[in-house]
Amino acid sequence: SPAAIIAPSILSADFADLGNECSTKIKQGADWLHIDVMDGHFVPNITLGAPIVTSIRDHVERPSVKHGKGTFDCHMMVAEPKRWVKNFQEAGCDLFCFHYEAAINSTAAETPDGDSDLNTNPKEMIRYIHELGMLAGIAIKPETKVDVLWDILGSKNEKEVPDMVLVMTVKPGFGGQSFMPEPLTKVEELRKRYPDLNIEVDGGLGPGTIDQAAVAGANVIVAGSAVFGKPDPAAVITLLRDAVEK
Ligand code: DX5
Ligand code: ZN
Repeated sequence: SPAAIIAPSILSADFADLGNECSTKIKQGADWLHIDVMDGHFVPNITLGAPIVTSIRDHVERPSVKHGKGTFDCHMMVAEPKRWVKNFQEAGCDLFCFHYEAAINSTAAETPDGDSDLNTNPKEMIRYIHELGMLAGIAIKPETKVDVLWDILGSKNEKEVPDMVLVMTVKPGFGGQSFMPEPLTKVEELRKRYPDLNIEVDGGLGPGTIDQAAVAGANVIVAGSAVFGKPDPAAVITLLRDAVEK
């Protein structure tokens, strides 16, 4: 597997002290920051939008290399994700991860810059994200079959190939839920076919669940409630990294 990447989810941070929470997590050993964007339509919860990303960007230096420390990994739990690609790029997002289910269910709408050609094709979404200079991720909910990804991952056009696949291990919408082991079979299948792919797992990860995710082949680990508000976040980050690298 590729190198371990630990991405604390800021959803569990103290929002009144967000800039400091973010820079502290990087100092405590985090690689990326996982930023959960929810719009109240794709999921039954609202979190944050581009202005917050702009604000925290001032507290976390932009990565100097692709996938580097300080990468803003924006997990877009939004309907019609194409509307927000440019908006988030301008705010300082480095990796735009949209949901497969949202892309294919999009209806016609305009992007903020007046582009009315709203594309529901995941491959074209990935190309659009790449054209704007960001890394592209594609996420699938627990009930979505991994088979929907084979055509996308197998694209002959490298601009249409995602830099990361996110396999959700909870129903998207809230932090602090219990880990679901079933989606790990999807991680295993992805890892078998794509030894170098960044495979992210998100939801319920912590000291008690990391080993099974690591064995399945995940290398990008999101953890919200297991890291924030804990007495020793640095130790948890190290534990997660060691589990992936052993
Ligand atoms: C769930 C979010 C997750 C969540 C993770 O919809 O995508 O990123 O915040 O939180 P924990 O680690 O507490 O399950
Ligand atoms: Zn997330």
